[in-house]
Amino acid sequence: MATVLIGLGSNLGNRKQNISLALKEIGLIRGTAIRKVSGFYATSPLGGPKGQPDFLNAAAVLSYSGTPAGLLKALKVIEKKLGRKKTVRWGPRIIDIDILLSENKIVHSRQLTVPHKLMHKRLFVLKPLAEIAPDAMHPVLKTSVKDMLKNIMPEIFKNVRDVKKFVHKARAAGKSVALVPTMGALHEGHLSLIRQAKKENDIAIVSVFVNPLQFGPKEDFKKYPRDTQRDVELCANAGADAVFAPVPKEIYANDFQTIVSQKRLPEHLCGLSRPGHFTGVMTVCCKLFNIVEPDTAYFGRKDFQQTVVIKKMVEDLNMNLKIKVLPTVREKDGLAMSSRNAYLSVQERRDALCLYAALTKAKQMLKSGERSSAKIIAEMKKIITKTPSAEIDYITVVAPETLENTDVIRGRTVAAMAVRIGKIRLIDNCILKS
Ligand code: PAF
Repeated sequence: MATVLIGLGSNLGNRKQNISLALKEIGLIRGTAIRKVSGFYATSPLGGPKGQPDFLNAAAVLSYSGTPAGLLKALKVIEKKLGRKKTVRWGPRIIDIDILLSENKIVHSRQLTVPHKLMHKRLFVLKPLAEIAPDAMHPVLKTSVKDMLKNIMPEIFKNVRDVKKFVHKARAAGKSVALVPTMGALHEGHLSLIRQAKKENDIAIVSVFVNPLQFGPKEDFKKYPRDTQRDVELCANAGADAVFAPVPKEIYANDFQTIVSQKRLPEHLCGLSRPGHFTGVMTVCCKLFNIVEPDTAYFGRKDFQQTVVIKKMVEDLNMNLKIKVLPTVREKDGLAMSSRNAYLSVQERRDALCLYAALTKAKQMLKSGERSSAKIIAEMKKIITKTPSAEIDYITVVAPETLENTDVIRGRTVAAMAVRIGKIRLIDNCILKS
C-alpha cells in the first residue's frame, strides 16, 4: 500500500458538498482507504477567467494499492460523475482532484506528473497539506511539506528597519530588487504586476499601505478595504518574496513635515477634483523608494496620471530606479480592475460598464478616421449620460507626457475619464494612436 497525497478544489455550486462527495467516492475506489482529511480553505482563484468565484480547497492522505496512473483514471471518472465540464485553463470547476505526492515515486507521463508540477508554489495546496502531512517529503526538491509552505510565504515586515535589512542582505548577495507599491485589497491587476516583478527581478517586494496623505477629508480613507491576511496569501501565490505592511506611524511620525509636490502635472485630470492627492502619492512613493531602494518599481496603467506624475518625480529628483507601467487588467466584460469595484452594488456594477463602452466608442471612432477630440469626447459623454447612476467628473483626450488637452489626435494621445457611479468614483483610460 502506498501513501498518496491528493488535493481537492471546487469553485462552483455548493463547494463544500462537492468536495465531501468527491471524498466519499474516492473512499469507494477499489484498493483505497482515506487516512486523513484536512479542513477547508477558501482561496482567491489564481489565473483563469477574471471574476470567477473563490475556491474551496482541501487535501487528503490515502492508502492505495494500485499505480498512480490507475488512481488518476479513477479520479477522472469521479470528476466527470460530479459534473466537471471541460473548461479553459484554470477556469471555474465543480471539482478538481490532483495527485500531489505518492511517497518517493516520480512519474512523468503525458497524463500525469508526480510530484505535482506546481505544488511547491501553491499556497492553496500546501496549506491544507501541511495540516495533515507536514513531514511528507518532495522526492525531487528534497523538502518537506512544512518547509515548502514556509518557503512560499513572503516575509512580512512591519517596520522600516527590518525591510531595509532584508533588502541590504539581498543586495549584498548581488540580487536585483523590485517594488510593487499597493494600498492592499489586491486584485488580478496587482497580481499581474507582482508576477512580472518577480519574473524580471530576483526579489519582489510588495508594499501594502493605505496612505492617509493621498485621501481628501471627504474621501474613503476610513472605509478603504483592508485585509492583510488575504493580501499576504495572494502575494504568496503570485511569487512575492516580502510584504512591507507598515503601520501609519512608521511612515508618518508625529513631527512629519516634508512633502513632494509637482507644479503642472497634478493640475490636470484627477488632480482637479482631488486636490493634494498627487502630493500624497508622490510623498509616499518617494519614501517607499528610499526605504526599499528598488531597481524597478511597477505600476498599472489604469492609474494613468499617477504613472506620469511618478515618472516625472523620478526624473526631476534623479531617483535611482526604473518605473515600469503594465497594461490595465480588465474583468471579462471590460470593467477595469480596481479595489473600489468592491463597493459597487449589483446594479452599479452593471452601470460601471459605461466607462469601458465609452472608451471602446472612442477607439472605434478613431479607427473610422475621426481625429477631432471634441467629437470623440461628445460621443463618449453621450454613452455615460445614458446611464442614470453615472455622473461625469471629466472625460478628456490628453497628450501623454504633459497631460494637456489635445484638440486633434495626432500620434499618441490618451482618452481619460473619471465617472461617479452612485457614490463610487471610477477612473479608466485608453491609448488613442493615430
Ligand atoms: O496606486 C496606488 O495604490 C497608490 O496610489 C500607491 C501608488 C500605492 C501609493 O499609495
